[in-house]
Amino acid sequence: MNPGRRAVARAHANIALAKYWGKADDVHNVPAVTSVSVTLEALTTTTEVQFDPALGSDLLELDGRQAEGRAVERVTAMLDRIRRAARIEAHARVASRNSFPTGSGLASSASGFAALALAAMAAAGLDLDRDLASDLARRSSASAARSIHGGFVRLGAGEPGDAALPAEPVAPASHWDLRVVVAVTTKGPKKIGSTEGMGHTARTSPYYAGWIDLCQRLSGEVERAVMQKDLRALGEAAEQSALAMHACAMAARPALIYFEPSTLGCVHAVRAMRDRGCAAWATIDAGPHVKVLTTSDDADRVRQELASLPGVVDTIISRVGGPATVELEGT
Ligand code: PMV
Repeated sequence: MNPGRRAVARAHANIALAKYWGKADDVHNVPAVTSVSVTLEALTTTTEVQFDPALGSDLLELDGRQAEGRAVERVTAMLDRIRRAARIEAHARVASRNSFPTGSGLASSASGFAALALAAMAAAGLDLDRDLASDLARRSSASAARSIHGGFVRLGAGEPGDAALPAEPVAPASHWDLRVVVAVTTKGPKKIGSTEGMGHTARTSPYYAGWIDLCQRLSGEVERAVMQKDLRALGEAAEQSALAMHACAMAARPALIYFEPSTLGCVHAVRAMRDRGCAAWATIDAGPHVKVLTTSDDADRVRQELASLPGVVDTIISRVGGPATVELEGT
């Protein structure tokens, strides 16, 4: 049998404005809280997939290098679900590239698993149902469910169990011409991954119950602020979501500290910019980098200030990105 069709998908990274941190179900990867994100046009993953009966196992190339171990296992776990749905058995050749610096520690699992879900579904001959793609992506990395859609996106909290839980679009990219400035900071030792980090936080942080309570309110606030295009309301809610998530993780035992000195330096600089009348609010995921919400007018100023700080090694300005896309190439 000949190799099947090759599909190429592109997906953008996203940054949560209302953070997801905590699972309702570890096995089925169901979030315990509702998250709301903005898709980032400047950070893109492009992934090619081709099923080939001649292969003895799935092959994964990441940014031009053959990957092994955990990365391949996570790809195979998603491909197994797609093989079952499409009733095929062939293994696949997967090649994935990020537009942003390799190894920078910027979130690549969101755009990566969203692009993989779409490309593998298309290559396997499945209908391109966005809910199915988002649900499949969510099972590999919950934030990836949101990268199937463009603009502003919600992933609801779920119940324990195997039920479908796709992300839902809140507003398209055209709704609001925001900017996000990414400050890539110097990295310390390798940090604990999100799944391990949230499990540890849920088990040992005395603030976990308070965090779950707060998320309920903040996700609603974030969504309302997006609909009303109220940047101050959005920024305040997003900054509280990020800092409360980190405070909760820092109170775990042993403490989970994703901040580097440069991370805190950026947060203080953002607050100082605000005092001088600049529109800037910070958010931070499970790593040391800082993303700043701002306007098209203030983006250059914010970028320059962040770039001048000690420990900031790169800065990227992003617009709001569109949905993930996929194309089939040849037979
Ligand atoms: O979906 P994961 O396992 O990559 O976890 C994402 C966790 C955060 O990035 C910290 C928050 C979020 O909602 O994206």
